[in-house]
Amino acid sequence: MEDLRSVHWDITRKCNLRCKHCYNAEKYFNPNSDSYIEEEMSLEQCKHTVDNFANAGFEHIHFLGGEPLASPYLFDVIEYAKEKYNMCITINSNACLLTESICRKLIELKVEQYAASLDGCSALVNDSIRGSGTFEKVLENMKMLNSIKTEYPQKMETVFVFTLTKKNIGDLKLLPKVAEEAGVDLMVLTTFIESGNGREHKEEFAMGYIELCDAIETMVSKELLQHSVPLQIDMRPRFCDYLASRYMAPIIYNSKNSLCCAGEKIWYLEANGDAHPCLVFQLEAGKKALKENAYIKEKMSVLDKTISEIENSQYWKTFLSKKHAFNASKISTCTGCIYLDDCEPCFLEYGDYNRPVIECEWTKQREKSLYDDIKEKTYTLSSNVDYKEETGKIAIDNNLVMELDNEVSSDFLDKICEFGKVESALKELEKEYAVDSERLKYDLAVLVMNLINNDILKEVV
Ligand SMILES: C[S@@+](CC[C@H](N)C(=O)[O-])C[C@H]1O[C@@H](n2cnc3c(N)ncnc32)[C@H](O)[C@@H]1O
Ligand code: SF4
Ligand code: SF4
Repeated sequence: MEDLRSVHWDITRKCNLRCKHCYNAEKYFNPNSDSYIEEEMSLEQCKHTVDNFANAGFEHIHFLGGEPLASPYLFDVIEYAKEKYNMCITINSNACLLTESICRKLIELKVEQYAASLDGCSALVNDSIRGSGTFEKVLENMKMLNSIKTEYPQKMETVFVFTLTKKNIGDLKLLPKVAEEAGVDLMVLTTFIESGNGREHKEEFAMGYIELCDAIETMVSKELLQHSVPLQIDMRPRFCDYLASRYMAPIIYNSKNSLCCAGEKIWYLEANGDAHPCLVFQLEAGKKALKENAYIKEKMSVLDKTISEIENSQYWKTFLSKKHAFNASKISTCTGCIYLDDCEPCFLEYGDYNRPVIECEWTKQREKSLYDDIKEKTYTLSSNVDYKEETGKIAIDNNLVMELDNEVSSDFLDKICEFGKVESALKELEKEYAVDSERLKYDLAVLVMNLINNDILKEVV
């Protein structure tokens, strides 16, 4: 899915729930709001929309809403997109409307991923956000889906999506157990956005990033390792890689989330057919940018415009030109970061380059103390390791275990082999590379953790 061009499509504004944090509430459920959307596309219009996107090279539809299962057309549209274009289909759902026959239909239609939202690991917490009875219902329904799935040869990934907020952060440590018991394949952590109901109730939901990072680290270092379900964290790669390397934890990040794909690899489509490069227009950063005329927003409906007309509109052109003018390396947190090729924080949120990226500042502190722990230590290559400096390939007993993809990392390993002590290897590197030595320490501390965790390096005691 990461390489596919995707449309994130709110197939309906209807929803059986009224979650207290829902970012779409104002737009879809509140008839008093200016932006309230009443009309939805007909089945014919939905099919036409699939044609338009597929013919423009889109290969993946991610359905959300409202509640996708509340749409009368969801299955017809999936069937159409699958049969005619073999598109990849993923769904984000509240999972409360799942029945046995819906489970079978989703699997038979070869839906690639079904992600159920869970906003707490107890009825007390989850239901205070999603409504009474939803915790038990989601667990029961996801167990049913996972059990029915075993009857079929088709592979459908099932997921719990957990939006981190002040209200549910205390339940985070319980998530790996709950996910394992429900039999899901993946847990996804996402962060809270202040929009719709989320903005209205932000005092209850919004929380500091330092506290958030601490809570994730605690869960990763303990409960994640005790259970079998891998974790995707929709946060910056530096943070995710630190946690993965430090704790040898099954953590991934989705590069489509860390790179800004808005208006290019990912489009956003509202229930009435209005297209947007991203849903940032409904967030504070997007509203502020609109006020300052940083880009021009126009109504661009897929019902009367082709994808290429939309791409050539003022909306897309002004949005993308602003986006392409953004240079993440000018953010103080990001200068010199090894992840810059895979990471692009939001150009509207970080556009004035004055704001630090808190989770990466948090990570740097952790990397720094990790470096202080290892700098005096001496390491050597484990006996069965075969390391080819020219290619950066490292094999153990002839099995490739790691590939060092940059010159500094492979040179560092080379220097460790020669000098043993981490601090001495760093000093040698500083002579060769005009890099910020503080920065280098952070990167090397994580690299050493990775090499130790993969049994490539061992400490000489
Ligand atoms: C708007 S919902 C639509 C799909 C479906 N109704 C559901 O709840 O999963 C899409 C995702 O956004 C999450 N979400 C809702 N409000 C949010 C907010 N203020 N910040 C971050 N995520 C939010 C939901 O938990 C869900 O995972
Ligand atoms: S988060 Fe999903 S389930 Fe909850 S109100 Fe919004 S659309 Fe409905
Ligand atoms: S420091 Fe900047 S470039 Fe590096 S991972 Fe963090 S946000 Fe991305």
